[in-house]
Amino acid sequence: MDQTLYFTLLLIDKLILIKENLMWSEALRYCRQNRMDLVSVHSEEIQRRVMNVVKGASTEAVWLGLRHSCTVGIWFWVSGQTVCYHNWAPGNGTSEEDCEPIVRSGAVQSGGDQRWISRPETDKLNFICSRY
Ligand SMILES: *[C@@H]1O[C@H](CO)[C@@H](O)[C@H](O)[C@H]1NC(C)=O
Repeated sequence: MDQTLYFTLLLIDKLILIKENLMWSEALRYCRQNRMDLVSVHSEEIQRRVMNVVKGASTEAVWLGLRHSCTVGIWFWVSGQTVCYHNWAPGNGTSEEDCEPIVRSGAVQSGGDQRWISRPETDKLNFICSRY
Protein backbone atom coordinates (compact mmCIF):
# COMPACT_ATOMS: atom_id res chain seq x y z
CA MET A 1 0.00 0.00 0.00
CA ASP A 2 1.14 3.55 -0.70
CA GLN A 3 2.74 4.86 2.47
CA THR A 4 0.92 8.21 2.56
CA LEU A 5 -2.45 6.49 2.19
CA TYR A 6 -1.51 4.02 4.91
CA PHE A 7 -0.73 6.74 7.43
CA THR A 8 -3.85 8.67 6.49
CA LEU A 9 -5.97 5.60 7.23
CA LEU A 10 -4.25 5.13 10.57
CA LEU A 11 -4.98 8.72 11.53
CA ILE A 12 -8.64 8.82 10.52
CA ASP A 13 -9.31 5.63 12.44
CA LYS A 14 -8.34 7.10 15.77
CA LEU A 15 -11.69 7.66 17.48
CA ILE A 16 -11.57 6.34 21.00
CA LEU A 17 -14.64 5.92 23.21
CA ILE A 18 -13.73 6.52 26.86
CA LYS A 19 -16.21 4.77 29.10
CA GLU A 20 -15.74 7.00 32.11
CA ASN A 21 -18.42 9.40 33.32
CA LEU A 22 -16.90 12.87 33.40
CA MET A 23 -18.13 16.43 33.18
CA TRP A 24 -17.43 18.09 29.82
CA SER A 25 -14.37 20.08 30.97
CA GLU A 26 -12.90 17.02 32.70
CA ALA A 27 -13.40 15.01 29.50
CA LEU A 28 -11.62 17.71 27.47
CA ARG A 29 -8.71 17.69 29.93
CA TYR A 30 -8.55 13.88 29.82
CA CYS A 31 -8.25 13.84 26.02
CA ARG A 32 -5.68 16.65 25.92
CA GLN A 33 -3.54 15.07 28.63
CA ASN A 34 -3.38 12.03 26.37
CA ARG A 35 -2.35 14.09 23.32
CA MET A 36 -5.81 13.96 21.78
CA ASP A 37 -8.86 16.23 21.64
CA LEU A 38 -12.59 15.76 22.14
CA VAL A 39 -13.88 14.66 18.75
CA SER A 40 -14.97 17.25 16.25
CA VAL A 41 -17.76 15.98 13.98
CA HIS A 42 -17.31 18.30 11.03
CA SER A 43 -18.52 15.95 8.29
CA GLU A 44 -21.10 13.27 7.61
CA GLU A 45 -18.25 10.77 7.30
CA ILE A 46 -17.07 11.44 10.86
CA GLN A 47 -20.68 11.39 12.11
CA ARG A 48 -21.03 7.87 10.62
CA ARG A 49 -17.91 6.70 12.42
CA VAL A 50 -19.04 8.34 15.66
CA MET A 51 -22.42 6.55 15.39
CA ASN A 52 -20.54 3.28 15.19
CA VAL A 53 -18.32 4.01 18.18
CA VAL A 54 -21.06 5.27 20.55
CA LYS A 55 -22.98 1.98 20.33
CA GLY A 56 -20.62 0.73 23.04
CA ALA A 57 -21.26 3.62 25.44
CA SER A 58 -22.64 3.15 28.95
CA THR A 59 -24.37 6.56 29.10
CA GLU A 60 -27.33 7.58 26.94
CA ALA A 61 -25.31 10.43 25.43
CA VAL A 62 -21.59 10.91 24.78
CA TRP A 63 -19.65 14.20 24.89
CA LEU A 64 -18.33 15.77 21.68
CA GLY A 65 -15.88 18.67 21.39
CA LEU A 66 -18.85 20.97 20.92
CA ARG A 67 -19.26 24.01 23.13
CA HIS A 68 -21.69 26.89 23.39
CA SER A 69 -20.49 30.45 23.90
CA CYS A 70 -23.03 32.68 25.59
CA THR A 71 -20.94 35.77 24.90
CA VAL A 72 -21.07 35.34 21.13
CA GLY A 73 -24.20 33.19 21.03
CA ILE A 74 -22.70 30.46 18.86
CA TRP A 75 -21.74 26.78 19.00
CA PHE A 76 -18.13 25.92 18.10
CA TRP A 77 -15.77 22.93 17.89
CA VAL A 78 -12.92 23.16 20.40
CA SER A 79 -10.57 21.84 17.69
CA GLY A 80 -11.13 25.11 15.80
CA GLN A 81 -13.06 23.48 12.93
CA THR A 82 -15.94 25.57 11.65
CA VAL A 83 -19.44 24.26 12.31
CA CYS A 84 -20.80 23.69 8.79
CA TYR A 85 -22.11 20.16 9.09
CA HIS A 86 -24.95 19.77 11.66
CA ASN A 87 -26.81 16.83 13.12
CA TRP A 88 -28.83 18.42 15.93
CA ALA A 89 -31.94 16.79 17.37
CA PRO A 90 -35.00 19.02 16.84
CA GLY A 91 -35.04 21.96 19.26
CA ASN A 92 -31.35 21.59 20.16
CA GLY A 93 -28.38 23.70 19.05
CA THR A 94 -30.22 26.97 18.67
CA SER A 95 -28.21 30.11 19.34
CA GLU A 96 -30.86 31.29 21.82
CA GLU A 97 -29.54 28.55 24.10
CA ASP A 98 -30.25 29.28 27.77
CA CYS A 99 -26.94 30.32 29.34
CA GLU A 100 -27.96 30.45 32.97
CA PRO A 101 -26.84 29.06 35.27
CA ILE A 102 -24.68 26.46 33.50
CA VAL A 103 -22.79 26.63 30.19
CA ARG A 104 -23.94 24.02 27.67
CA SER A 105 -21.94 21.56 25.64
CA GLY A 106 -22.81 19.17 22.84
CA ALA A 107 -23.24 15.41 23.08
CA VAL A 108 -24.37 12.71 20.67
CA GLN A 109 -27.17 10.31 21.63
CA SER A 110 -25.75 6.78 21.96
CA GLY A 111 -29.01 5.18 20.79
CA GLY A 112 -32.01 6.03 18.65
CA ASP A 113 -31.34 8.60 15.94
CA GLN A 114 -27.89 9.41 17.36
CA ARG A 115 -28.42 13.12 16.84
CA TRP A 116 -26.62 15.87 18.76
CA ILE A 117 -28.15 17.28 21.91
CA SER A 118 -27.33 20.23 24.14
CA ARG A 119 -26.57 19.34 27.78
CA PRO A 120 -25.37 21.28 30.85
CA GLU A 121 -21.57 20.88 30.95
CA THR A 122 -21.79 19.40 34.46
CA ASP A 123 -23.55 16.23 33.24
CA LYS A 124 -21.32 13.18 33.60
CA LEU A 125 -21.06 11.28 30.34
CA ASN A 126 -18.79 8.94 28.36
CA PHE A 127 -16.84 10.79 25.66
CA ILE A 128 -14.86 10.34 22.45
CA CYS A 129 -11.25 11.41 22.08
CA SER A 130 -9.71 11.75 18.64
CA ARG A 131 -6.11 11.92 17.53
CA TYR A 132 -5.52 14.57 14.88
C1 LIG B 1 -33.31 18.19 22.38
O1 LIG B 1 -33.47 16.89 21.87
C2 LIG B 1 -33.96 15.95 22.84
C3 LIG B 1 -33.93 14.58 22.18
O2 LIG B 1 -34.64 14.52 20.99
C4 LIG B 1 -35.36 16.36 23.27
O3 LIG B 1 -35.84 15.46 24.23
C5 LIG B 1 -35.30 17.77 23.84
O4 LIG B 1 -36.59 18.21 24.16
C6 LIG B 1 -34.66 18.72 22.84
N1 LIG B 1 -34.44 20.02 23.49
C7 LIG B 1 -35.18 21.10 23.18
C8 LIG B 1 -34.82 22.35 23.88
O5 LIG B 1 -36.08 21.06 22.37
